[in-house]
Amino acid sequence: MKNIAGIPENGKKENIEDFCDLINDLHHEKITLKKATTKDKATVIEINYNLNKVQHVEQKRAKKITKAISAKQCFIILANTKAVGFVLFDYRFFDQGWIELMIIAEKYRRQGIVQTLDLISKQAKTNKVFTSTNQSNGPMQKALSKAGFTFAGELIGLDDGDPELFYYKKMEK
Ligand SMILES: CC(C)(COP(=O)(O)OP(=O)(O)OC[C@H]1O[C@@H](n2cnc3c(N)ncnc32)[C@H](O)[C@@H]1OP(=O)(O)O)[C@@H](O)C(=O)NCCC(=O)NCCS
Repeated sequence: MKNIAGIPENGKKENIEDFCDLINDLHHEKITLKKATTKDKATVIEINYNLNKVQHVEQKRAKKITKAISAKQCFIILANTKAVGFVLFDYRFFDQGWIELMIIAEKYRRQGIVQTLDLISKQAKTNKVFTSTNQSNGPMQKALSKAGFTFAGELIGLDDGDPELFYYKKMEK
């Protein structure tokens, strides 16, 4: 038996490919967010490491995810009960809602999961939510525009030769 994030209840972790399951088509599935608990840690780290394990081990992403889960700042993106991605969200950016990181597992991309940006924005305590992405990350920039985010400006000096582009969305609250 598996819990909601797909981890077997006996605690034994399976490969994400096994539990993120047989059907990749999400178009008829309900997308929701669930605050991650320590039980979801392996799922989130696996989704992250599937993106770029070497780089993310170097960047200590597992530690960052563990910290976010403890602070209740990590949300699993569920398609019905399947874990298809996650979002790290906090208020560290000038006390505004801040999307620190959003990752959709590769096989579930290009299916409109960007609607999660709406869900995460709606649960924010602030009426503005900010985020940033590298200039080289075309998919995220397009996804942000599609979700109604506005370009706020760019910052150089973080990643050499790859400016950080900031975006925000203002909501009626
Ligand atoms: C960026 C990311 C979150 C987008 O997630 P997604 O679920 O694939 O996005 P969606 O399917 O909702 O796409 C929404 C729109 O964004 C654009 N888009 C998304 N991926 C794209 C790609 N690879 N190429 C071009 N446009 C893309 C399209 O306009 C798309 O709408 P369309 O499919 O109707 O044309 C996903 O690609 C991802 O997890 N990337 C790796 C991690 C990352 O870079 N995170 C962002 C930095 S924090």
